[in-house]
Amino acid sequence: MATAGKVIKCKAAVAWEAGKPLSMEEVEVAPPQAMEVRVKILFTSLCHTDVYFWEAKGQTPMFPRIFGHEAGGIVESVGEGVTELAPGDHVLPVFTGECKECPHCKSAESNMCDLLRINTDRGVMIGDGKSRFSIDGKPIYHFVGTSTFSEYTVMHVGCVAKINPEAPLDKVCVLSCGISTGLGASINVAKPPKGSTVAIFGLGAVGLAAAEGARIAGASRIIGIDLNASRFEEARKFGCTEFVNPKDHSKPVQEVLAEMTNGGVDRSVECTGNVNAMIQAFECVHDGWGVAVLVGVPHKDAEFKTHPMNFLGKVA
Ligand SMILES: NC(=O)c1ccc[n+]([C@@H]2O[C@H](COP(=O)([O-])OP(=O)(O)OC[C@H]3O[C@@H](n4cnc5c(N)ncnc54)[C@H](O)[C@@H]3O)[C@@H](O)[C@H]2O)c1
Ligand SMILES: [Zn+2]
Ligand SMILES: [Zn+2]
Repeated sequence: MATAGKVIKCKAAVAWEAGKPLSMEEVEVAPPQAMEVRVKILFTSLCHTDVYFWEAKGQTPMFPRIFGHEAGGIVESVGEGVTELAPGDHVLPVFTGECKECPHCKSAESNMCDLLRINTDRGVMIGDGKSRFSIDGKPIYHFVGTSTFSEYTVMHVGCVAKINPEAPLDKVCVLSCGISTGLGASINVAKPPKGSTVAIFGLGAVGLAAAEGARIAGASRIIGIDLNASRFEEARKFGCTEFVNPKDHSKPVQEVLAEMTNGGVDRSVECTGNVNAMIQAFECVHDGWGVAVLVGVPHKDAEFKTHPMNFLGKVA
């Protein structure tokens, strides 16, 4: 590639301040260093985690910054030591990367890589502690090692997954976060037994994927819970069989669910980021065997409160 080894000037949506509209700017993207890859981003979508860190109401502020972590692109060039990827490869960014060597990467139970696990407070590359983005020499921070709201971005090779070039990048870009998070939370963590009842709190992209995961796993009742009733119709396509809007009930949603299910659901998956929904998701599972999986990113000052007796009978 003619651009390999050179700085690329391209457009990026830069967040200068918390909660202020992103502005399209010309940024300079430095070449990838050792174990890094520079990717031309063709499609990117928005996840609620981008919004939280852009609002920075309850999360650590770090600006100016380029957000975005759900995307699809093509490798433009690779840095020293990168052997598994080459220019032209179709790829998806992965904010929870894999070094392939640490105990987490070697474990079938975890993907919290010691080197590349998600770190929302780091705005620079791991290799040299510097940013690859700049405007007039002033560095712009990265976000979760991906920063896909830019026509070109630089990522650690462990944060880039090669995919089949026949996969349509405009569609598979949601596999970068929303779909894999929700589907994995249901299939790999909640593991609902066939015929079981599953409650899904929050029916955004993550919740829809969690419902789909429960459906694939063979759950027979999938109860979607959302404060926004306009989400229900879409959620039916992803396997939800029943719906509860907490606003329609005067009693706590845990009690509504217990009544609907003869004592509680078998599994619950929380996909809202709201701590009250997390508590409800924990308390609505059946005693003895119920399992709650919490996926949402809570406010940094949020506190999870429940009676300790609940821990005697449930798992989270
Ligand atoms: N753990 C991870 O790796 C990971 C990955 C992706 C997203 N997330 C988090 O998952 C959550 C969902 O992400 P998303 O992009 O699908 O968000 P989204 O905003 O598209 O959807 C969230 C849904 O939850 C509903 N909701 C909010 N508060 C509620 C409450 N108290 N009770 C019931 N419903 C409620 C909203 O109406 C909305 O429909 C966010 O917190 C996001 O940051 C975590
Ligand atoms: Zn996300
Ligand atoms: Zn690792």
